Amino acid sequence: MIEAAATVDEVEEARVRYLGRKSELKLALREVRDRETGMTLNAVRVAIEESLSRREQELTTAVVEDTDFDVTLPGETFARGQLHLVTQVRRAVEDAFLGLGYEVREDREVETVEYNFDLLAFPDWHHARSPRETFFFDEQRLLRTETSPSQIHLMQEREPPLYMVSIGRVYRRDTIDATHFTMFHQFEGLAVDRGLTLADLRGTLLHVMRALYGAERRVRFRTHYFPFTEPSMEPDVSCPICDGEGCRVCSDTGWIELGGCGMVDPNVFEAVGYDPEEWQGFAFGFGLERIAMIRYGIDEIRRFFDNDVRFLTRY
Ligand code: DAH
Repeated sequence: MIEAAATVDEVEEARVRYLGRKSELKLALREVRDRETGMTLNAVRVAIEESLSRREQELTTAVVEDTDFDVTLPGETFARGQLHLVTQVRRAVEDAFLGLGYEVREDREVETVEYNFDLLAFPDWHHARSPRETFFFDEQRLLRTETSPSQIHLMQEREPPLYMVSIGRVYRRDTIDATHFTMFHQFEGLAVDRGLTLADLRGTLLHVMRALYGAERRVRFRTHYFPFTEPSMEPDVSCPICDGEGCRVCSDTGWIELGGCGMVDPNVFEAVGYDPEEWQGFAFGFGLERIAMIRYGIDEIRRFFDNDVRFLTRY
């Protein structure tokens, strides 16, 4: 029984059974009346004890010999995965808009001329309609050049009020350099409600920029042209690196250009069947990589996509 014990616990069980208070040996020892029997039983007790501790020692040393790791050595650290920088910024953007009560959506990357251009009121002559700038599959189908078609999809699906942000990949036939890539990410916002004004657009962008770049940020608008907004503007955020003093990141202007925005053009509302007298809206579109580059001081958009883990694990 003792030799057959396979674990230290089983040795302990044997000890209780043979030497415990209720064991035959203990009971017999209590009954002893003569010295000779006493000595014999004691010799038995010693023999059992020896064999128990021998077996126990065998078992404990065997454990150490059978394994070839040294529990005193420091552990091996395994590389842990982490979210891609673009995903991190995407989530920060989502959080900022969810906090404002916006819904988050994603739409198809293969679009039609109708949704990417026509319904967004792009004039026939617009340069983005050219196959030199846009990846076409055929006359009608293309890789979307912007997330703005999401505005149309949402407005065709539902009636206002609407507050949504759409995030995803867009494609352009740009020449690749430090700040241009043929694929990148945008987030598109659209709000449609009664009585919305430019002040609402401004307040919304200010909230999001402060969520992304810190409470000190200021926002300004420069007039611009986009086919589907009127008026159209380009928003700038005060440079988060130099706080407007002027530095390399903001090319000494103190301001960073972010994308486009404006009040939804009444023609766009009419094309989806909304009454522009009743509903007002604002929209905006920004590049995610650009947001990340400014946030982390990265000056090469290609770093996002060449999947160098040494770069990606830095953020
Ligand atoms: N779609 C524009 C672009 O990719 C950005 C943009 C401008 C989006 C104005 C908007 C907007 O929603 O209102 O350059």
